Amino acid sequence: MIDPTEVQSLVLHPHAAARLDLAFLHCPTRQDLVRLLGTAAATVTPAAQARSDRPSVNLGVTGAGIDLLDVGRRARAALPAAFLDGMRLAATRNGDVGPSAPETWVPPFAPGDPPVHAVVLAVGPRPGVPAADAPDWGGLAGSVDHLSTSAARWTGTSRPGGVEPFGFRDGISSPTIEGSGRPVRPGAGVWDGEALRWRAVRAGEALLGHVDESGAVAGHPDAAHLERDGSYLVVRRLEQDVEGFRGACASWAEGVEGLDADDVADRIVGRRRDGTVLGQRPGEEPANDFLYRDGGPQGRAVPPSSHIRRSHPRDDVEHADRIVPRHQLFRRGIPYADEADGTEGLLFLALCADLRRQFELVQSHWLQDGNRFGLGAETDPLTGQCPVGGGPRPASITGADGGRVRTPSLPSFVTTRGGEYVLLPSRTALRTMAARGPRP
Ligand code: HEM
Repeated sequence: MIDPTEVQSLVLHPHAAARLDLAFLHCPTRQDLVRLLGTAAATVTPAAQARSDRPSVNLGVTGAGIDLLDVGRRARAALPAAFLDGMRLAATRNGDVGPSAPETWVPPFAPGDPPVHAVVLAVGPRPGVPAADAPDWGGLAGSVDHLSTSAARWTGTSRPGGVEPFGFRDGISSPTIEGSGRPVRPGAGVWDGEALRWRAVRAGEALLGHVDESGAVAGHPDAAHLERDGSYLVVRRLEQDVEGFRGACASWAEGVEGLDADDVADRIVGRRRDGTVLGQRPGEEPANDFLYRDGGPQGRAVPPSSHIRRSHPRDDVEHADRIVPRHQLFRRGIPYADEADGTEGLLFLALCADLRRQFELVQSHWLQDGNRFGLGAETDPLTGQCPVGGGPRPASITGADGGRVRTPSLPSFVTTRGGEYVLLPSRTALRTMAARGPRP
């Protein structure tokens, strides 16, 4: 059973928010962090109180925060190394190399920046409900003002039609968590090949202390007081080269019979800008109730190399019924546009119970390594990185006749500008962390 009075709102609510503000906090002393966690325990928005017409506030703790807190040797050893080490040390695994390397990251993750111990997330009301100019930090406002600097805040804002900066509708496919009280929409979960229906993903794929798709309880018993009813959150600032993407699609289309630049872009993503898949008529409600191997015309029309097919292959890998449910991501991202430096992109946010098995596997294997899908050295044409040192980035799409159309090399369109792994603890865990009190 999920207790929605314990779990923070972002975990259970696949928000479509007008605005998302992140304040990254560095705590000069352990006492500052303990005080912050005590305030958070009393003021974060539990899922039970989340309302789409009102802002909600969540708080996450980083691995550096856990170390500052000093949770004890046994509990620390039970927490995942990827979380404790942080995203910077995962750079090679995640393909954050070359222009995406941590040496190029922006504050608060630029080289030499002080460690971030906690992140406050203010999730604005739903699109259409006017969002205030300033974030609503609720009861955490005092702590945020006291601890954060202006350089350490990121703001995401939704765009009309829910599109991301390349112009594609986002937020269509997101798995339902079992016990979350949300109905399972076809396509939004796990395909049960025996019952021939979609079902919700077991809670333990998103929430620690709950049974996961393998039948085990997610998390480590020695860290249960910190992890239970919590979830790991991946935060990444992904800058998008919108002109570069359009230009590359136009050049590729020049050499391909029957496709224009928009068709190429659609085939790279796997959906059209309006969210429909190629097997649908443009303008229809975007379909999500499809499989790739045995799923009829809609799924078969999605190019095997496309972003949506590689990031969530549904039935398109061997033993898919046992493999794919173990690599689900619960996305909560939102676009950003930075007026100060003219950049734009995605504040990619995704929840999971196991950072390495879920986020890192999708990021490094499914999106970066084509061999899993019989595509050789091809990376995901949308988010893949050029090899370090400037070698080619081969890619393919499906042509107008359904055949594979290759290009020897595509530029990269997405660059990592910073990020971190964060634990969104339950309210009880926040209280437990705060109750350990300042050490002498
Ligand atoms: C700037 C970078 C990115 C852009 C512009 C982007 C864009 C999109 C778009 C337009 C969709 C289709 C809409 C939808 O199904 O909700 C999508 C789906 C998805 N993306 Fe991304 N994405 C990006 C990065 C990533 C990364 C880094 C990951 C994982 C590590 C990822 C995982 C997914 C998943 C799991 C889906 C759902 C696929 C499905 O269930 O059919 N995306 N993305």
